[in-house]
Amino acid sequence: MFGKIIGTGSYIPRQFITNEDLTNYIDTSDEWITDRTGVKKRHIMKDETTADMAVEAARKAVEQAGIHVNEIDMIIVSSVSSNVILPNTACYVQDKIGAVNAFCFDINTACTGFIMAYNTAQSYIDTGLIQTALIIGAEGLSKIVDWSDRGTCILFGDGAGAAIIKKDSEAVFDTVMHADGSMGAALTCDNGFAYRPRLIDETENKTMSQEEKNAQSQEGHLNQIQNTYVQMNGQEIFRFAVKQVPECIQELMKKMQINKDEIDMFILHQANSRILQGIAKRLKVSLEKIPMNVSEYGNTSSACIPILLDELFRTGELKEGDKIIMSGFGAGVTLAATYLEV
Ligand code: ACO
Repeated sequence: MFGKIIGTGSYIPRQFITNEDLTNYIDTSDEWITDRTGVKKRHIMKDETTADMAVEAARKAVEQAGIHVNEIDMIIVSSVSSNVILPNTACYVQDKIGAVNAFCFDINTACTGFIMAYNTAQSYIDTGLIQTALIIGAEGLSKIVDWSDRGTCILFGDGAGAAIIKKDSEAVFDTVMHADGSMGAALTCDNGFAYRPRLIDETENKTMSQEEKNAQSQEGHLNQIQNTYVQMNGQEIFRFAVKQVPECIQELMKKMQINKDEIDMFILHQANSRILQGIAKRLKVSLEKIPMNVSEYGNTSSACIPILLDELFRTGELKEGDKIIMSGFGAGVTLAATYLEV
């Protein structure tokens, strides 16, 4: 038996940067960014952190679901850009919302992350291990983007989205998931740990002096700092998404023996509008069935899909009984398509 989404929530920082604002820092224009990506602005954290945004999105999802936090058996946070490594962000959320009965873990499958969290929750429900899960996509990408690199900084924004999934005898679930690590170099970001100085000098068999540590740190810093920001081969990612996402969705529909006309909505990772238009064209699906909010938020990686889901639920565009395919795709490379009924 699987679960149904019974509540969603999201958190968007108030502060935002428009395309026009960006022209003060980099050689670009509103026209170029809008034509190539569809992004008009991106919201950026100011006083909040990634973990704080996850907490706020979670609170709203719990409130909308109308459950008590003690009912939550599991919390999964998907993020590539959390401000905390230890404890994991899910444990941070558990503490802040008081979900004392939940066990907690984080996952990193980049922009596919929310779908992987959803699929993981469904698998735990199906095995009978849990009844209720809180899943969250939360990203503070503004902290890992190089704001002097016009090829990447124009694309990304910050935000968080969450959903509560509860065991339901009516729930329907199926999925297709893929990864291709050989394409990993197309989108990378180091955490910088490898460049930190060691505290000992093995060759001399002694601890390093402060000057030696500083020198090693600076050398590593100067050589490698760039790798701690998002590096992207935009055209390779574009080709991957436009070709492989429709194939993945078609594979799912074939597996389930359903066709695209039976699907009410395709809720896709909001990478950029040209990618979404390319996917629609290959699937031969009207853009009306592919909701977009990328112009307002940019690409918020694993937060894109839950933020969009929350908007669609709250505006009533998603209705009980609607048949949906969600699809996430991103760094790794990873991709997944998942079927659900509202
Ligand atoms: N403003 C103005 N000019 C720019 C900008 C900018 N912000 N960025 C790049 N350019 C210039 C380049 O320098 C280049 O100039 P040149 O011809 O003088 O060398 C020219 O524009 C063309 O550059 P390309 O990189 O070839 O531009 P392209 O048409 O590929 O568009 C883009 C770039 C928008 C990044 C595109 O490749 C794309 O959409 N890729 C998908 C990437 C993506 O969505 N990644 C998100 C993360 S992964 C995920 O979510 C799936």
